[in-house]
Amino acid sequence: MTRLGIVGYGGRIHGMVTGPFRQVDPDLRVVAVVDPDESRVRERLADCDDDVVFYKSIGAMMRGTDLDAVAVGTRCNLHADIAAELAAYDRPLFLEKPVATTLKDTIALEHAFENSRCQVVVSFPLRVSPLCALARQYIESDAVGEPLHVHAVNYVPYGTVYWEEMYRDYAVTGGLFLQKATHDFDYLMYLMGHSITRIAARATRGRIFGGDRPAGLRCSTCDETETCPESPTNRRRNGSGGSISDHSCLFSVDSGEGSQLNEDCSSALLEFADGSHGVYSQVFYARRDAGARGATVSGYDGTVGFDWYTNELTRVRHHHPFSAVERAGEGMSHFGGDMALSENFLGVVNGTDTSHTPIETGIQSVYACLAARESAEVASFVDVRQVGAV
Ligand SMILES: NC(=O)c1ccc[n+]([C@@H]2O[C@H](COP(=O)([O-])OP(=O)(O)OC[C@H]3O[C@@H](n4cnc5c(N)ncnc54)[C@H](O)[C@@H]3O)[C@@H](O)[C@H]2O)c1
Repeated sequence: MTRLGIVGYGGRIHGMVTGPFRQVDPDLRVVAVVDPDESRVRERLADCDDDVVFYKSIGAMMRGTDLDAVAVGTRCNLHADIAAELAAYDRPLFLEKPVATTLKDTIALEHAFENSRCQVVVSFPLRVSPLCALARQYIESDAVGEPLHVHAVNYVPYGTVYWEEMYRDYAVTGGLFLQKATHDFDYLMYLMGHSITRIAARATRGRIFGGDRPAGLRCSTCDETETCPESPTNRRRNGSGGSISDHSCLFSVDSGEGSQLNEDCSSALLEFADGSHGVYSQVFYARRDAGARGATVSGYDGTVGFDWYTNELTRVRHHHPFSAVERAGEGMSHFGGDMALSENFLGVVNGTDTSHTPIETGIQSVYACLAARESAEVASFVDVRQVGAV
């Protein structure tokens, strides 16, 4: 039996435990939890985890029970402190992204892991998804020659959650580069084989979501639901996605204001350590078939591109009359990435594998996200701090 301790047993980690973790290891049990909301956690826990013990602190949990591994599923702004504390124990750690939300916390996290034996699997399903791994495999075997350029897009068809759910709390998430692009910057560095060193970014906010509708407004108390495209009735009628239950208003002051409002869309010009470059855009008002996420990497010899929504990878040889399209299997959570993450994490726990998304990947991605956010604010290029910098 694998004995797992969890700090922050929320929706995401519950989904991982009861889904892919247990598919990989049916004998995995949640035996210890640190979470202030014990009653909500108890509602969520699977029957086989009924013997769980709740602890008030990480120290008490680590002293009180013998664990094979720990998973951290709190919200974004707590990840860094919790992971830094757990670095002192050499238990394998599954850590939700983003691994930190401020520069101070990220540097402290990096220091905490400098001499740690704790192996971390950062929750980056996209990097380890089969489609991305295949693209990297082709790039490594010279399908494009030297990769010189990458063009990446993320048209998020479920983006309304960033104004109507807890993700609108900017103090917790720090905006959508940290919340969303942390995945994309990570897999782009993996694909290109180099770290992002400089960024120029722009963000457009307050043009669509956010606004001056009253605090606390919900569809059930609003007199504009007949005409609002975000009302449950209109979403259902138009098949435009998002919650079709009563929800918070996306145009209210509660969605954030000024620079503390999630961006409707943002883009970054990325320079990599070898001088290659690329562009990345994320668009949060896209709906329905406009959903797209993926990248196209090119060099003199060829182009490799893929999209997780169409589940297809394309390879074009520039100097030979051959092109290929490959389709990936359907219906896997995070495009098969959650299963790949789970296999890797449990491999680390069992000592049969090493992490494919170690703590450095999470930290380097946050450094890039923080540089992008700063660049969008100051409207000029910003150097990206590198892991290991003095
Ligand atoms: N990797 C991915 O693809 C992916 C997908 C979804 C969410 N996430 C990330 O997962 C994280 C959690 O999201 P969620 O939707 O599960 O949130 P959630 O609110 O459902 O869960 C957070 C949990 O943390 C608990 N908590 C709060 N304060 C705590 C503390 N001081 N110590 C311990 N526990 C505490 C809460 O009671 C709650 O149970 C977010 O950071 C989000 O970015 C990642």
